[in-house]
Formats: sequence, structure tokens, C-alpha cells
Amino acid sequence: MIKQTLCALPIALALAGTASASKAPEDILDELAAKTSSSYLTQSPQNRMMMPDNPAYLVVEDGEKLFKQKRGPKNASLEQCDFGKGPGVLKGAYVELPRYFPDTGKVMDLESRLVHCMKTLQGFTNDDPAIKKRHGSDSDMMLLQSYIATQSNGMAWNPPLNHPLEKAMRNAGEVMFYRRSGTMDFNCATCHKVDGGRIRASVLPNIKKPEEWTKAISWPAYRTSQDNVRSSQHRVLECLWQMRYPNIKADSDAQIALISFWTDAARGQPAMLPDLKR
Ligand code: HEC
Repeated sequence: MIKQTLCALPIALALAGTASASKAPEDILDELAAKTSSSYLTQSPQNRMMMPDNPAYLVVEDGEKLFKQKRGPKNASLEQCDFGKGPGVLKGAYVELPRYFPDTGKVMDLESRLVHCMKTLQGFTNDDPAIKKRHGSDSDMMLLQSYIATQSNGMAWNPPLNHPLEKAMRNAGEVMFYRRSGTMDFNCATCHKVDGGRIRASVLPNIKKPEEWTKAISWPAYRTSQDNVRSSQHRVLECLWQMRYPNIKADSDAQIALISFWTDAARGQPAMLPDLKR
């Protein structure tokens, strides 16, 4: 008995070590909710209860395998992909995106950078399903994004704004957020600059409240209503669709500008990854 306990001890300590390295997303949520009186953060006790068993964790696990697997015409893994902190560095990379990449001369978000690496390192092209299929828990895109993003769980959003193009993209995103247009004359702010605003049962997040906005932009997240893990670009697409806009193109500058602005609006607040949303 004693022998067994002693044998188990190092394992228990090792597990405790990893657990304390980053807080679970639900603990981050609880802390933010306790600090604020946000009805957005506390809107669904049911979702909160599901978070420890978030189906997105399975997607993250499969994503890790896929990330490390040699594949594509060049038979390479993604382990040499540079997400901004050097080749292969994933920890903290996502919370510092979008950022400017000198090798492409562009500001890129997680999704567009991932596509870039799948093309340059692995040799995939736009027509390959690995790149073409952007949505759904079983798509390579969502598996990989979920794994990469989760390596930044608990870290503060800190997208760099040093390069002129980083500033330009963030500022373009701000203009887009506040510009009314389309058949309904909506802007993003119509729904996302009010406190405790609702559409039916959903409480909408306020971009002016960084503590709630950090949850709003914590993607990939498992959406219970869609039974799928969704990306940031999917959220942009869906909100623009609600505004009766035509479909926005994946990886377009408009996508990245909006994501640059919304990430800057959550600066300093901890990311919850993977998240679970309505
Ligand atoms: C007509 C109202 C409306 C407009 C306009 C709108 N949204 Fe949304 N937004 C929503 C709804 C509804 C949700 C989902 C809330 C839910 O399902 O609980 C949402 C969710 C979000 C979320 C994630 C928060 C969450 O809990 O799911 C983000 C981030 C977001 N919108 C950004 C934007 C941006 C950027 C724009 C402008 C391009 C925009 N929204 C325009 C209604 C709107």
C-alpha cells in the first residue's frame, strides 16, 4: 500500500504541476464574473456546467496529432510553422495575433497564418480539402486552430501594434465596426456596444467591457447550438450574415481587420481556450 502510494506520488505531483500552469477556462470565467456584474458572463449556468467536459477538448487532442503528423506533398509536419514567436513556438503565440509577418509582408491572423504554413511547409494548395474546408469540428482547420489556440489559454491578449500595417489594420477594423451599412443599416456596435442587450435569450457582449469582451473573442469555441467548434472567422461571417451582408471571404483583409480591432479591445484580459458558447 505504502509502496503504491509512493509510486503514485511523482505522477500526482507532475499532474498538479501542469494543472497550476494555466487555469481552466471555467475558472477564468468565474473570476471575471465575480469581478464584474456582467449579465453576458453569467447568462448560462448550463453552459458553465458543461465547460469542464467541453467537447472541444477532443478536437484539441486530435489537432495535436494532426499538427505533428508529416503530411502533404512535402511530407512535413507543422512543427516548424512560425506563428510570430519563432518556428515551433505555440505557447502565447495566439494571444499576440493578428500580427505583421515580414515573410509575407502582411498582417495575418491565426487562420491565415496556418493556411500559409500548410502551403509553404506541407505543399497543400487552395483546392486541397485540408485548406478548402474551413468549418466544422472535423475539418483540419478547426482541429489545428483549436490545438494551437489552446496553448495560449489564460494568457492576456496582447496583439502587437508596432508595425504601421498592424495599426492600419486595427484602425480599419474600428471603422468597419462602427460603419453603418447594408440593407438593415446595422453596424457591429448596434448589437455590441450596449450593456446587457439581448436578442431573444442571448445576452450580447459589449466591446467597451474588456472583461466580457475577452470571452466574446475566445475562439475556437464549441457552440452548443451548432454542435461544432467554431473559429473567429466563422463568428465574423455569422454576424455579417445577421447584418444581411454578402458572405465575407476567408482570410480577406476585412476579416483580419475586424479581428485585429476586436482583439485589441480585449487587451490585457485572459483568453479562455477552448471556450464553450451558446
Ligand atoms: C443584429 C445584431 C448583431 C450585429 C449587428 C452583430 N452581431 Fe455579433 N453577435 C450577435 C449575436 C446574436 C451573437 C451570438 C450570441 C449568442 O448566440 O449567444 C453575436 C456574437 C458575436 C461575438 C461572439 C460572442 C458570443 O457570445 O458568441 C462576437 C465577437 C461578435 N458577435 C462580433 C460582431 C462583429 C465584429 C460584428 C460586426 C461585423 C457583429 N458582431 C455584428 C448579434 C449581432
